[in-house]
Amino acid sequence: MKCLSSGIVVDNREIAESICKAVISVPSIANQCLPGQFVNIYFQDSIRIFPRPFSIAGVDNDSIHLVYKIIGPQTKVMNHWNTGDSIKILGPLGNGFNCTANKSEMILLAGGVGAAPLMFLRDQLFQDGIKPVFFLGARTKSQLPFLSDPRSRLMLSTDDGSIGSKGLITDRLIEYLSKINDPATVFVCGPDPMIKTMKLISFTENISVYVSLEKTMACGLGLCQGCIVKNSSDNTGKHYSLVCKDGPVFNLNDVEFDE
Ligand SMILES: Cc1cc2nc3c(=O)[nH]c(=O)nc-3n(C[C@H](O)[C@H](O)[C@H](O)COP(=O)(O)OP(=O)(O)OC[C@H]3O[C@@H](n4cnc5c(N)ncnc54)[C@H](O)[C@@H]3O)c2cc1C
Ligand code: FES
Repeated sequence: MKCLSSGIVVDNREIAESICKAVISVPSIANQCLPGQFVNIYFQDSIRIFPRPFSIAGVDNDSIHLVYKIIGPQTKVMNHWNTGDSIKILGPLGNGFNCTANKSEMILLAGGVGAAPLMFLRDQLFQDGIKPVFFLGARTKSQLPFLSDPRSRLMLSTDDGSIGSKGLITDRLIEYLSKINDPATVFVCGPDPMIKTMKLISFTENISVYVSLEKTMACGLGLCQGCIVKNSSDNTGKHYSLVCKDGPVFNLNDVEFDE
């Protein structure tokens, strides 16, 4: 059940260049959310400013974690949150990852702040006794949200080679897939070019791919029809899905991208 709640900021700090981690005490959300779900953050002048969606990046006790990149006016406001501030927050929203079906080889793949929803999934897998392989890429070392991770087998890449291998993280994944025999399930979140590349990879490799999509959202609640994505799964005769309500997690096979 989703609730509009008051959350209290417990911590808010920069963890990489323009990337921050906030810990928010909000028991009504922390006690029922799943990896892959997100929250809407409402800002002071909430009539004129649409809420902003953020993936839940982790949970501890009664708090949720958000990992956010400062890119515009509202993420700048978030950057100024102080411990003890009260914020309006709605969630948990969306469907979340379904990771019970295939536990043979669990792979997480993220670009930059796309790591956020996968960090929560990693925590759940780790709790279930699975240490996933986590492929994490960024332009340069300072833009990686973390550089080491005891809960996963971390593989880093950067465009400039400042840490990890030089080049695209998807190339590192292809190399890895060529060395394993088991079928794998890959959970992905990142920029559009990375997701389109994953779609191509999924045609040739023995993998299932689930993607957490980020579309610009207005309501985040299934009301405005502003976050439509083409969906070819189509048993229902319906050709479109709403990222906020039917997603944000989709089987990548089902998602169609414009050229
Ligand atoms: C389901 C979901 C989960 C998300 N999770 C996270 C997260 O965990 N961490 C995080 O940093 N961001 C996340 N985002 C993106 C985040 O919502 C936007 O960065 C935020 O709304 C920007 O607000 P702003 O006012 O600072 O900037 P705005 O002025 O709203 O946007 C600045 C620029 O970013 C673009 N933009 C805005 N929203 C998005 C979006 N959703 N996808 C791509 N480009 C966008 C705008 O077109 C504009 O160019 C998520 C988005 C969705 C839909
Ligand atoms: S953002 Fe309004 S329907 Fe999805």
